[in-house]
Amino acid sequence: MPKSKEQAPERSEGDVNLSPRRKAWAERHLDENAVAMLAEDASYFLHQSLSTPCLNAIQASEGIHLEDVQGRKIMDFHGNSVHQVGHGHPRVIEAIKAQLDVLPFCPRRYTNQVAIDLARRLIELTPGNLSKVLFSPGGTSAIGMALKLARYATGRHKTVSMWDSFHGASLDAISIGGEALFRKDVGPLLPGTEHVPPPTRGKCLFNCNDEQHSGCLDYLDYVFEMQGDVAALIAEPMRWTTVEPPPPGYWKKAREICDRHGVLLIFDEIPSALGRTGKMFVCEHFDVVPDMLVIGKGLGGGVFPMAALITTAELDIVGDRALGHYTHEKSSVGCAAALATIDCVLEERLIENSIELGRHARARLEALRDELPIVHEVRGLGLHIGIELRRDGEPAGDEADAVLYHSLGHGLSYKVGGGCVLTLCPPMTITREELDRALDIVEAGIRSVV
Ligand SMILES: Cc1ncc(COP(=O)(O)O)c(C=O)c1O
Repeated sequence: MPKSKEQAPERSEGDVNLSPRRKAWAERHLDENAVAMLAEDASYFLHQSLSTPCLNAIQASEGIHLEDVQGRKIMDFHGNSVHQVGHGHPRVIEAIKAQLDVLPFCPRRYTNQVAIDLARRLIELTPGNLSKVLFSPGGTSAIGMALKLARYATGRHKTVSMWDSFHGASLDAISIGGEALFRKDVGPLLPGTEHVPPPTRGKCLFNCNDEQHSGCLDYLDYVFEMQGDVAALIAEPMRWTTVEPPPPGYWKKAREICDRHGVLLIFDEIPSALGRTGKMFVCEHFDVVPDMLVIGKGLGGGVFPMAALITTAELDIVGDRALGHYTHEKSSVGCAAALATIDCVLEERLIENSIELGRHARARLEALRDELPIVHEVRGLGLHIGIELRRDGEPAGDEADAVLYHSLGHGLSYKVGGGCVLTLCPPMTITREELDRALDIVEAGIRSVV
């Protein structure tokens, strides 16, 4: 039975767009023009959870800010994770404009210098023996390429991934993903997509029972052994929507288990790469090199859809099949945006800023945790920070939603992950003063629900 448009979706992702709190917020904050735009949007676009009907309409963006159609500035700590260098970074815009004047599109049978330059740059930057790339116009399609390559390379088709993870919205990506919002009611998914069991209450998302991480790692060993035909383990090295860095030593042990069973390790760093966590790539925190690294989102400078699969020369083995074959595969404009983005990250010392300001934000929030029992945990790496709210040990979903709308009302946008985790993901170009202003808003919001 198709669901009614008015039925509220489940809260497996974050704030839902049909909630009574959303409605009340709109009544309080939107003028006639904004309401009319949202209504027109809703009349043309297919309705879906987490987008149409939309929250608000925006007309401009710059740096850490969005500007809504009422001219109000909104600090963007969400940005769909594309805004490592902020919105409309002048160097990115300039690179795009220059490339538009010279080579706006590159048909697939040709190459172009910017694409080659970007490939070389990524290979130089990535750790270990990662030395071959393939670009695509989006994270989900790059994940699809990785899944295909894993099948070709191993002759096996099964995968192991994590419940509650997200790897994109297409049918193959939701099969390995683990969010109910995307998987429920949609019918048969890819066969052979095993998932690590979800954590029992109170345990970390990686489901570690003890120092040896036996909850998850013993399971991996067991499944790889029993199934015998697992092609790949695919995971976000740091869980993004709920901001969960893995426990110490976790990925090193997982890597060993993969190697023992001939299973390829695929890391999805689509939202997390390019310095956000305080390293260019998240895997560098754990000293583990995957067989395939998938990046995207901010690679296009927050402007252009760009993603990349980066792998080893040993896996360059399917020259007679198509892994990607996407129309905008070697987009000269997208590659120019990506090169400018990498330059900004390195030359403006944005990774250093991420480390320093991340430390500052966590220290402030940890002081709040020590004071307010509702702040159950503060965690993160670099400038990706999660604040988990719990009341009497239980996830405080309603309170998290109230804090979010309080913040939105004060000009700060972010996401709520896993129902009760406020996830702060600002551009890495942010200043300490701007960050403190945002943290003041978050703190006031949390105090309002205590
Ligand atoms: C971890 C992760 N993987 C994959 C994707 C999909 O990327 P895209 O939306 O560019 O297809 C996302 C997007 O949110 C993501 O967060």
